[in-house]
Amino acid sequence: MTSIAVGADDAGASLKSHLAQYLRDKGYDVCDYGDGDGEDYPDVAVEVAEAIADGKHERALLICGTGLGMAITANKVPGVRAATAHDPYSAERARKSNDAQVLTMGGRVIAPQAATKVLDHWLASEFEGGGSAPKVEKMKAIDERHRREQAGA
Ligand code: RB5
Repeated sequence: MTSIAVGADDAGASLKSHLAQYLRDKGYDVCDYGDGDGEDYPDVAVEVAEAIADGKHERALLICGTGLGMAITANKVPGVRAATAHDPYSAERARKSNDAQVLTMGGRVIAPQAATKVLDHWLASEFEGGGSAPKVEKMKAIDERHRREQAGA
């Protein structure tokens, strides 16, 4: 079964717990990186994003107050594509068009029932390739260019 990492800060802890239980009930292999425990959203997001980049999990779900700080931080890790979505269509397109391995949502933005629906659409969608593939390849090339520049190559 797909391995899904989940993580939150204080503002996202309650929604994260709800969604993590939902995922477990559906049979997903859920790896819980916690609720921050006094840490800030960048601390949780970078740990989870690095685990995604290292191939430890196929997907990740990150929850903070708005979902924005988690996405901004996760997208700083090369190879990670994180998208904030609070509606089913955006969640679906985040997979189909953008091949986002990480979904972020805001515990202060969306109610648990609506968040579950958004999560369902994201889980049910896969990258469609086709015309979207060259665009995702361009994003990967940007990551590669920065990797090389940072290595001084
Ligand atoms: C609280 O730190 C809040 O700023 C955070 O949860 C998140 O919404 C940031 O993007």
